[in-house]
Amino acid sequence: MTGRVAGKKALVTGAAQGLGAAAAWYLAREGARVLLSDLNEAGAAQIAAAINSELGPGTAAAIRHDVTSEADWIATIEYARVTLGGLSILVNNAGIVLTGSIEDLTLEQWRRGMAVNVDSVFLGTRHALPLMRENQPGSIVNLSSIAGLIASHNFANYNASKAAVWLLTKSIALHCAKQGWDIRCNSIHPAFIKTSILQDLVGDRDEATVMAKLARQVPLGRLGESADVAHAIVYLASDESRFMTGAELKLDGGISAM
Ligand SMILES: NC(=O)c1ccc[n+]([C@@H]2O[C@H](COP(=O)([O-])OP(=O)(O)OC[C@H]3O[C@@H](n4cnc5c(N)ncnc54)[C@H](O)[C@@H]3O)[C@@H](O)[C@H]2O)c1
Repeated sequence: MTGRVAGKKALVTGAAQGLGAAAAWYLAREGARVLLSDLNEAGAAQIAAAINSELGPGTAAAIRHDVTSEADWIATIEYARVTLGGLSILVNNAGIVLTGSIEDLTLEQWRRGMAVNVDSVFLGTRHALPLMRENQPGSIVNLSSIAGLIASHNFANYNASKAAVWLLTKSIALHCAKQGWDIRCNSIHPAFIKTSILQDLVGDRDEATVMAKLARQVPLGRLGESADVAHAIVYLASDESRFMTGAELKLDGGISAM
């Protein structure tokens, strides 16, 4: 078996599209077996079938999974045990953006954003660790955001939830290290990657104009591609990053350097 994550067993949440789908593809191409989970079961199954058709049957599988549900997490980890034969990589990718200032958001919206973006990482890591301990070395990769490090007036929930993911990552990393487990945990902080999440920010406005405006805010002068994030996920998932834990990787075209 060849590849940068050859023989590893990966679960990617929110893998029906966008960054999760790209991560699943790149991990599979680098030799991992991958379980794709998503609320959108048909979408995840479609990506898994395409991966199997390119890379061979049994490379990928899919499951319906609401990352806010503890029962779903228990079932998904058990499915990973059965279909992958264990778990060595967890990519906590599923997430949503709720726009709105502190005065705009209702408590219900706030709780939804925290559930999808933060409870998911809490529940997923808690339930994955027992199986990951049996499959060391392991790596947990959490999708935070540059918005977890830099605030905006109309991102109250997204800023708070992604900042929680940032420090939760470090706490998990230190816990695993203290236990003496070779299980690392790092966060990724992208900005403006071309996926449907960015599309949601466009709303009724002209898409090309909004995208051009966003690109002008990036020192590199362009928006990011899903592949830019998938490459980083493969690096953090692989043993190439074996001395890296509790760290944050910023993929923002230079925004946070300003
Ligand atoms: N695209 C960007 O510019 C960007 C920037 C920074 C961070 N991120 C983060 O990257 C991650 C992926 O973003 P994306 O751009 O691919 O988004 P996306 O909207 O294209 O995909 C998100 C996926 O998550 C799934 N999902 C949503 N709620 C879920 C739930 N409760 N349970 C299971 N699955 C659920 C959706 O069905 C979808 O397939 C998110 O955590 C996002 O916050 C994205």
